Amino acid sequence: MSAAICGTGSYAPDYIMDNNRIAELVETNDDWIKERTGIRKRHIAKTETTTFMASEAAKRALENAGAEPEEIELIIVATLSSELIVPCSACEVQREIGAKNAACFDINAACSGFVIAYNMADAFFAAGQYSTALIVAAESLSKLTDWTDRNTCILFGDGAGAAVLKNTSDRHYNSVTHSDGGKGWALTCKNRLDLEEGRFSREHYIDMNGQEIFKFAVRRVPELIREVLQKNKVEQEEIAWYVMHQANCRILEAVARHLGEPAMKFPMNLQHYGNTSSASIPLLLDEMNRKGMLKKGEKILMAGFGAGLTWSGNIVEWSI
Ligand code: ACO
Repeated sequence: MSAAICGTGSYAPDYIMDNNRIAELVETNDDWIKERTGIRKRHIAKTETTTFMASEAAKRALENAGAEPEEIELIIVATLSSELIVPCSACEVQREIGAKNAACFDINAACSGFVIAYNMADAFFAAGQYSTALIVAAESLSKLTDWTDRNTCILFGDGAGAAVLKNTSDRHYNSVTHSDGGKGWALTCKNRLDLEEGRFSREHYIDMNGQEIFKFAVRRVPELIREVLQKNKVEQEEIAWYVMHQANCRILEAVARHLGEPAMKFPMNLQHYGNTSSASIPLLLDEMNRKGMLKKGEKILMAGFGAGLTWSGNIVEWSI
C-alpha cells in the first residue's frame, strides 16, 4: 500500500499586489516582469500569519477529504517562513484544527518542501507507522523580501496549500530527492537570531543569484523527472500532468522543451500567485482538483526545486 491524496485545500491572503504596484517601489515594469517570469500579481499576507494560512488550508483539505481531524495521525508542515521558531507550525495547525491524535513536526526544504513532506508521509506509511496524514506547505515570503531589491521582490508571494493522505493506493512509487549544499550560496536568507546590534542587514532578506538558480533548475529538473520515471518503470506518455514548483514560466517551458512534452502538461498558476516556495505545488494541485481537471487514475509527476539547493520528485496516482 502507498499514499493517496484524498483531499486538498489552500489559502491565499486577501491583499493582492500587481506588478504596477511593485513598479512604484523599484525600477521595473509590468511588461518586464510578465515577459521574464510570467507573474502578473501575487497575494501578500498583511494580516495573516504563516500558521494561520497553514491552518486554513488544512481545514479546507480536511473538508474536501471528508475526514475528521481526529483521524489524522501525522501532520508535517513545510515552511521556511513561519513567524514561530517554537512551537513548530505543525503543532499550531494541530491545535487549530483539533487533530489531537497527530504527531507533528516541520521541515524546511524551501521550494521542495511539499514534495519532501509527501515523500516522508509515504515512507511512514510504508514502514507501517501511520496510515492517515496531513501535509501542509505555507509561506510568508513577503516578510523575508527586501522590497528595494528588484532581483527578488518581483518574484515572491504568500500562501498555503495542504493535502490529506491515506495509505490506500495499490501501487507504490519511489521518490527521488537530491541536494547540493555546495551551491547553497545561490539562494540564502540568514536567521534573524543572527542580528548584529539589533539591526537587519541585507543578509536577513532573501538573497538570490537568479541566473544560477535558473541554470540549476533547467538542468536538474529534467534529469530529476527522467530519474523518477526510470525508477518507477513509468513511460513519459503515461504522465498526465507535471505539477511543478511555480518559480518562473520560462523554467517550466524549458523543462517541457527538454522532455519533448507539450507545455499544456505543465499547468501554471504563477501568474496569480508569484513564487510561493513550498506552497506553490499544493496551491496548484488544489486549484486543479477544484476545477475538476484531475481524473481518477491519472498519474501526476510532482517536482520541487529550490534553495539548499534541493530538488525532489515523485509520482502520485490521482484517486479522488
Ligand atoms: N525589472 C527590470 N529590469 C530588470 C529587473 C527587473 N525587476 N531585474 C533585472 N533587470 C535587468 C537587469 O539589470 C539586466 O539589465 P542589463 O541587461 O541592462 O544588465 C536585465 O534586466 C537582465 O537581467 P537578468 O538578471 O539577466 O534577468 P533574467 O532574465 O535572468 O531574469 C530572473 C531574472 C527573473 C530573476 C531569473 O533569473 C529567474 O527567474 N531566475 C530563477 C529565480 C527563481 O526561480 N528563484 C526561486 C527559486 S525557488 C526558492 O528556493 C525560493
